[in-house]
Amino acid sequence: MKILVTGAAGFIGGHVAEALAKRGDEVVGLDNFNDYYDPAKKRRNAQRLKKYPNFRLAEADIRNREQMFALFAEEKFVAVAHIAAMAGVRNAVAKPALYVNVNLNGSQNLMDAALAAGGLENFVCASTSSIYGNTKTLPFVESDPCDRPIQPYAASKRAAEMLGYSYHYLYKLNFTALRFFTVYGPHGRPDMMPYLLAESIYKGVQIPLYEGDMRRDWTYVEDTVKGVVTAIDRPLGYEIINLGRGEPVALADFIDKLEHLAGRKANLISKPKLAADMYVTYADISKARRLLDFKPSISVDEGVKRFWDWYQKEQAELASG
Ligand SMILES: NC(=O)c1ccc[n+]([C@@H]2O[C@H](COP(=O)([O-])OP(=O)(O)OC[C@H]3O[C@@H](n4cnc5c(N)ncnc54)[C@H](O)[C@@H]3O)[C@@H](O)[C@H]2O)c1
Repeated sequence: MKILVTGAAGFIGGHVAEALAKRGDEVVGLDNFNDYYDPAKKRRNAQRLKKYPNFRLAEADIRNREQMFALFAEEKFVAVAHIAAMAGVRNAVAKPALYVNVNLNGSQNLMDAALAAGGLENFVCASTSSIYGNTKTLPFVESDPCDRPIQPYAASKRAAEMLGYSYHYLYKLNFTALRFFTVYGPHGRPDMMPYLLAESIYKGVQIPLYEGDMRRDWTYVEDTVKGVVTAIDRPLGYEIINLGRGEPVALADFIDKLEHLAGRKANLISKPKLAADMYVTYADISKARRLLDFKPSISVDEGVKRFWDWYQKEQAELASG
């Protein structure tokens, strides 16, 4: 099957593209290699993918409508895994227009280009637990209205989910939005807590620890990717599905686990809670179980161990050039 994976040079997109290439799909990986974090990391992810003969890189920007129409017309994709986005809750507070342009308008460009080219059987779109904002309903369930996103990042993602519904209703596009929950693992995003913590433990770098009893539904990337791949294989009309573990763990405990493994403390400096930060993320995953046979299998203990092993290996490789 010929599949477009957007954001393929990023953390989750890289893993999704690799899983699809490994099983033999023809994969075109699209990315604009922006500098939200060090583009060298994205180049290394793309390099990892290029070893698969059935993978091709398309360096392009989803905001460029003409470019997207030309790409879809030429390639005739059967499915799209739309993983590209401006991620980063805190960064979005300073740059709302960028987030809406990429996450909403960029998503629309892809859907329009797909419809114009014809033949697309499924459009799977990365969404986020951030959409639940400060809802009082725990665990987070997909039937929650999610109409009070607390930052532009979440608002742009919720808007893309809703546009997906219009496109499904009017133009019969199969659209599945997958709400990811704090994904971590090898090649993880360097602006997220697991990577920052590892850096702090390994290099002694001071990092902020925002106040409040934060709990997160940490999900190991391998589990998330299994959910994405199944969603690609199963056009469902229109669905929104949580992909978390359904077992939130306090940030303080996550830190303890990593420090314990490393045998060293992170260098943390306490900062006041940010308005854009949620206290808790907690997924109800019964819908994912039912529709995607989703069974997250990597515990947080196991995931933290695998992540720390990978981090140390990467540092050693980088040091040896
Ligand atoms: N990592 C998480 O915990 C998490 C949680 C919830 C949702 N998500 C969502 O999952 C997706 C992947 O996140 P990630 O953590 O891998 O982030 P990431 O930043 O590593 O990956 C996103 C990729 O998209 C690319 N991109 C951004 N703007 C683009 C544009 N205009 N054109 C082409 N490419 C562009 C970036 O260069 C990057 O490589 C995003 O949609 C994000 O919102 C991630």
